[in-house]
Amino acid sequence: MASAVFLGFAPRFQNGTELLLLLQRKVTSFLLLSLALSSILILLTWGTSSNTFMFTSKQALSDSAPSPGYPNIIHDLTPQITYDEAVLPSGNFIADNSTATVSSQVPNKNSSSIIEPCDMSTGKWVRETREPIYSNLTCPFIPENKNCRNHGRSPGYLYWRWKPDGCDLPWFEPDRFLSIVRGKTFAFVGDSLARNHFDSLVCLLSQAEVPINGDRNPYKRFHKVHFPSSNFTVMMIWTEFYVLGMPRTNVSVSASFEIHLDKINTAWTSQLPGLDYLVISGGNWLYRKNYLYESNKLIGCVFCRGENLTEYSLPYVIRRVVRKALESIESCQNCDKLVTFLRSHTTSHFEKGSWFNGGFCNRTEPLNESELDFDAPEWEIRKIQKEEIERIKQFDGVGDTNRKKRYKWLDVTKAMMIRADGHPGEYYNKEFSRSAYDCLHWCLPGPVDMWNEMLMLNLINTSSLD
Ligand SMILES: *[C@@H]1O[C@H](CO)[C@@H](O)[C@H](O)[C@H]1NC(C)=O
Ligand SMILES: *[C@@H]1O[C@H](CO)[C@@H](O)[C@H](O)[C@H]1NC(C)=O
Ligand SMILES: *[C@@H]1O[C@H](CO)[C@@H](O)[C@H](O)[C@H]1NC(C)=O
Ligand SMILES: *[C@@H]1O[C@H](CO)[C@@H](O)[C@H](O)[C@H]1NC(C)=O
Ligand SMILES: *[C@@H]1O[C@H](CO)[C@@H](O)[C@H](O)[C@H]1NC(C)=O
Ligand SMILES: *[C@@H]1O[C@H](CO)[C@@H](O)[C@H](O)[C@H]1NC(C)=O
Ligand SMILES: *[C@@H]1O[C@H](CO)[C@@H](O)[C@H](O)[C@H]1NC(C)=O
Ligand SMILES: *[C@@H]1O[C@H](CO)[C@@H](O)[C@H](O)[C@H]1NC(C)=O
Ligand SMILES: *[C@@H]1O[C@H](CO)[C@@H](O)[C@H](O)[C@H]1NC(C)=O
Repeated sequence: MASAVFLGFAPRFQNGTELLLLLQRKVTSFLLLSLALSSILILLTWGTSSNTFMFTSKQALSDSAPSPGYPNIIHDLTPQITYDEAVLPSGNFIADNSTATVSSQVPNKNSSSIIEPCDMSTGKWVRETREPIYSNLTCPFIPENKNCRNHGRSPGYLYWRWKPDGCDLPWFEPDRFLSIVRGKTFAFVGDSLARNHFDSLVCLLSQAEVPINGDRNPYKRFHKVHFPSSNFTVMMIWTEFYVLGMPRTNVSVSASFEIHLDKINTAWTSQLPGLDYLVISGGNWLYRKNYLYESNKLIGCVFCRGENLTEYSLPYVIRRVVRKALESIESCQNCDKLVTFLRSHTTSHFEKGSWFNGGFCNRTEPLNESELDFDAPEWEIRKIQKEEIERIKQFDGVGDTNRKKRYKWLDVTKAMMIRADGHPGEYYNKEFSRSAYDCLHWCLPGPVDMWNEMLMLNLINTSSLD
């Protein structure tokens, strides 16, 4: 199998988003627009042949990079300069193993008893006969580019359930979820995978109550949906990097960004006060040639071999931005009640290429454990995310007894590594992307709904503390 394939995110924006407007100024006819977007996608996208682990392989990827001169892949996992070594995690954070099962209690649907979640991050997908909670017929908010059934996909991928090793993950219960979050405000912060998670939650909850302002535009950068009878609001707030990231030029719709590692992007942090729950995720936009700044000075770049600049590793950059994000949350004023989840990174499942060089994902069953690649960069990114959430927990509430910020780890990486069959593949409306397979996002309904089951179980636990 091949999973170590990365794409910069396709800039498939619609009217109302700044990048497309930029592009529309340049290109007027639809054909040209498509062509332009396609070439940009090629620039933004690159893949590798099977089993190449980009960060340990000593092999450059020039043979499979779709565009000559595209940045080669960095080889080194370790930061090339020292960043704040003194406070980097020592590595002795809680190991998977030590967060083992607290209880194997099967939650009682009707009871409000406190449920102790187990470690839900390891387990297996088992066959399931029950229909998903929603479908293309019962949720009108499924974006067409995730609406796999509408686009001809056979339903086999729907009949699997995640079975954590130590307990049962209860089915999502829309009514119960809405009663837990009554009067609360919830936000997803991140990129199109955060949007995927948000859309899943909206569909799940819409089975209990029709929300106001649900829509299917998958490209909206800010989106707020309200559930009136439970006075629950859920938002999607877009950020590629958490920190300030600016397109490097206006012309190319930014194959590259200028990333200011020390400047938080206040577009999302300004939304934090008053929030009850936050789910952050991300990382996908860092898999491209980007330029790094500190104190407004260019300090180097990532995925940029050949430039006369210091080259930083992807893990280094991920750590910097995740830490900056978590520290910004921690220092937020008027965020006393905030509970933050960090949702772990997930993998794509392109085989034999990527978006535009024929990469596909047409598996019809989950992978076997033996097929998983724990040398994959996604697994390394997950490790960094986990270290950073453990690190920030040490500061939780320190020196301020009024403050109740809490940090939680929503670890879906392994479960999703298995679900090579859960992506839209060729079954979506392709709009600008021609015949490319989408092996990165997840079908709705689909395995991504499980993230909300995990979330619900955690909320039950969290709200019991209030
Ligand atoms: C879990 O930890 C125990 C010791 O606490 C160790 O004996 C065991 O091998 C570990 N299991 C795994 C899967 O790491
Ligand atoms: C839960 O409540 C429903 C009715 O509201 C009832 O039919 C069902 O038996 C209850 N289940 C349990 C496990 O108590
Ligand atoms: C929804 O999915 C079904 C298959 O379950 C399919 O037949 C139908 O065309 C899809 N779309 C709509 C709008 O019903
Ligand atoms: C709805 O919830 C918000 C907080 O999210 C609160 O300020 C407002 O008063 C609530 N409205 C009602 C009618 O309960
Ligand atoms: C991009 O456009 C904005 C305004 O449209 C301008 O302020 C900025 O300088 C431009 N940047 C480049 C690199 O051309
Ligand atoms: C690299 O940059 C340094 C300092 O900016 C400069 O002295 C050197 O000539 C550059 N090397 C190349 C190959 O461009
Ligand atoms: C998956 O797609 C590839 C390329 O189109 C094709 O060669 C292969 O037979 C397909 N496999 C299945 C199981 O459909
Ligand atoms: C996956 O496991 C099943 C059952 O253990 C086996 O039949 C199948 O051949 C395996 N597939 C691969 C690709 O290893
Ligand atoms: C659930 O809550 C208990 C305290 O009641 C806590 O010890 C435990 O870590 C929590 N579990 C999760 C997964 O949040």
